[in-house]
Amino acid sequence: MSDDAKILVRFVNAEGEWSVEVEHGTDLLHASRLCGAPVQTLCNGIAACVQCKVKVLKNPENLSPPATLEIDKVGNIFHITGERLGCQAQVLGPVEIEPLPARLPRKRRPRFRPR
Ligand code: FES
Repeated sequence: MSDDAKILVRFVNAEGEWSVEVEHGTDLLHASRLCGAPVQTLCNGIAACVQCKVKVLKNPENLSPPATLEIDKVGNIFHITGERLGCQAQVLGPVEIEPLPARLPRKRRPRFRPR
């Protein structure tokens, strides 16, 4: 495959379907922005918020393997859960992806109870 060949990325969830053709090495967060798929972010793709989690439905081998930064954030069980960080997984071939809903942190309880 030549480097400038476009690769099909398809996003699917209960709300709809979105498709886009991207260049080799494009991350899934960027691909989602190009087609309007609802991949979430709070950190804008610097692997800090973990809101961009997606589930790989087809061809997980067509994504770059998780790097240390991603493994530090979500562990190394991607081969069981099929979940990846959209901002870290780069497209190497056609894939089908399910955007996952945002998981906002639970409101913290106060450490000390007022008397
Ligand atoms: S966009 Fe924040 S961790 Fe991926």
